[in-house]
Amino acid sequence: MAEKIIIFDTTLRDGEQSPGASLNIDEKLQIARQLALLQVDVIEAGFPFASRGDLEAVRTVAREVKGPQIAGLARAMVDDLDAAWEAVKEAENPRIHTFISTSDIHLKYQMRKTREEVLQAAVAAVRHAKRYTPNVEFSAMDASRSDLDYVAQVFTAVIDAGATTVNFPDTVGYAIPHEFGAKIKYLMEKIPNIDRAVLSVHCHNDLGLAVANSLVAIMNGARQVECTINGIGERAGNTSLEEVVMALATRKDLLDYYTDIATQQIYPTSRLVSKLTGMIVQPNKAIVGANAFAHESGIHQDAVLKEASTFEIMTPTSIGIKKSTLPLGKLSGRHALKEKLVEMGYNLSEAVLAQVFARFKDLADRKKTVFDEDLESLVEIEVLRKSVPDYYKLQELVVLTGTMAKPSATVKMEVEGEIQRYSAFGDGPIDATFKAITHITKSKCRLLKFSVNSITGGTDALGEITVRLEEDGFTVTGHGVDPDIVTASARALINGLNRLLYLKNMAKQPESEETRLVN
Ligand code: KIV
Ligand code: ZN
Repeated sequence: MAEKIIIFDTTLRDGEQSPGASLNIDEKLQIARQLALLQVDVIEAGFPFASRGDLEAVRTVAREVKGPQIAGLARAMVDDLDAAWEAVKEAENPRIHTFISTSDIHLKYQMRKTREEVLQAAVAAVRHAKRYTPNVEFSAMDASRSDLDYVAQVFTAVIDAGATTVNFPDTVGYAIPHEFGAKIKYLMEKIPNIDRAVLSVHCHNDLGLAVANSLVAIMNGARQVECTINGIGERAGNTSLEEVVMALATRKDLLDYYTDIATQQIYPTSRLVSKLTGMIVQPNKAIVGANAFAHESGIHQDAVLKEASTFEIMTPTSIGIKKSTLPLGKLSGRHALKEKLVEMGYNLSEAVLAQVFARFKDLADRKKTVFDEDLESLVEIEVLRKSVPDYYKLQELVVLTGTMAKPSATVKMEVEGEIQRYSAFGDGPIDATFKAITHITKSKCRLLKFSVNSITGGTDALGEITVRLEEDGFTVTGHGVDPDIVTASARALINGLNRLLYLKNMAKQPESEETRLVN
C-alpha cells in the first residue's frame, strides 16, 4: 500500500534566507495561508531567535494559520529554544525544530566543540524542547558530510531523549543520489530506535541534485521531505516542493508513495511566492516555469492538439494553471470582470473590486486584450498594495527620453495629503523618475534589486517591476504593474517606499513586554 510522505515546507525560513528575499509579517502570513490551502503538513515559519521581526512573524502565523503544523527553528541553545516556543506555542499543532552541526569540519572550524560535546548539546536541546511540546524535530547540520556512524549515534540519543523527527540535511548540496540513498538505508538499519521517529531529509541544490536526492531518500526509508516553493533557499536553493510532489504523483508506477498536497494550488502558490519574494521563476523551471507547458515545435503542437499525452506527462490544470477562457477588453463591464475574477478564484470585496476595475479600465484603454495573467497581476498588486497605507501616491508622471534628449522625468505626487512636484535628469528615464521620487519623498533608500518581468507576450504586454529597497536597516520589496515600464517602475518604487515608511512607523511604536525576545 502507498505510504505517505510528510511535506515540510521551509519557504518561510530557508527560502527566506535566499539573498534578497526577506519578507515582512504580512507577506509571511499571506504565504502561510496559501501553504495551508496547498495542504502542506508542516510550515516552518521562521527562526524566532534571529530577530524580533521573525519572532513576531512566526507568532502571527502560529496564531492565524490553521491546518498544518507550525514549526520554529532553534539552535541547540536554551535561549533559542525558548524563543522558538514563545513563537509557536499558540499554534494548533506546534513543532520545535532544533539543530546542531555534526560534521568534523563544522565542529573544528565553526563550533570548536568535540563530538561528545555536540552529542550532549543535542540531547539537552531535545530534552529542553520536550518540556514545551511532544512534537520535536532534531537536525544534524551538514549530516551528509558527517561520519555516518556518529550521526547514527546522535540520532539514537536524541530519539531516546524524545525527538519525533530526525532530519538528515545535505546542507551544502554535496551528495550524489546513489550515495545519499545508501546513507539513508544505512541509517534506517543502524539506528535501533528509528521506529519511534520519522527520518527526514533536507537537501540543498548546489549541484542541481536536491530533488533527485530527496526522491532516492524516500525510496530508502525517509518519510519526510523538507522543501520550498520554487526551490528557493540558501545559495542555489532547496528541494523544490512542486518537483518532488509532481514526481511522486506522475510516477506512481515506480514510486508507491503519496502526499496530501492539493496539487491544483501549486501554481497559485508559486506565483504568490515569486511575487512577494521578488524572486522570478526561470521560464524553463520544471512544473511552474512559463515554458513548462508551452509547446514551440509545430510537430509537438500538432500532436498535443490531437492528444495531449503525446508530449505532456501531466496536465497544466493538475497544478492549477487555469485554461484561459475569453480575454476581456475595453468594452467589458464591471460584472464581466467580477465573473472572470471569480472564475479565476478571486472573491474580492466590493471595495477592492472597485479599485481593480478602475485599473482594469485604464489598462484596457491602452491594451487591446486583457489576459488572465494581466488581471492576476493587477489583483495581486492591488491587494498587496492595500496591506500598507498609501502615504505616497503617484499622481502624474511625464518623461522625456530618446537618442537626442537627456532623459528627464517630472513627477507629481501626493505626500501624506499634500501635492508635490519635482523634475530630475537621469542616466535613463527610470533613473530620472527614481531621482524625482526620492527627492520628493526625501528617501535615502538604497536600491538593492530591480527586476522586470513581462506578463504576456507582445509590445503592449503589462510590465511587472519588482524593486528591493533598504533604508535604516529595513529591507522591503515593492511591486508595480503597467503597460508603460517607466510608470510600472515608479509604482514599484512608491509601493516600496510606502512599505519602508510603514515598517519604520511600526518600529517606533513601543515594544510590548510580550514581544521582547527571551534572553
Ligand atoms: O541546511 C541545513 O542544514 C538547514 C538546517 C537548519 C536544517 O537548513
Ligand atoms: Zn537548509
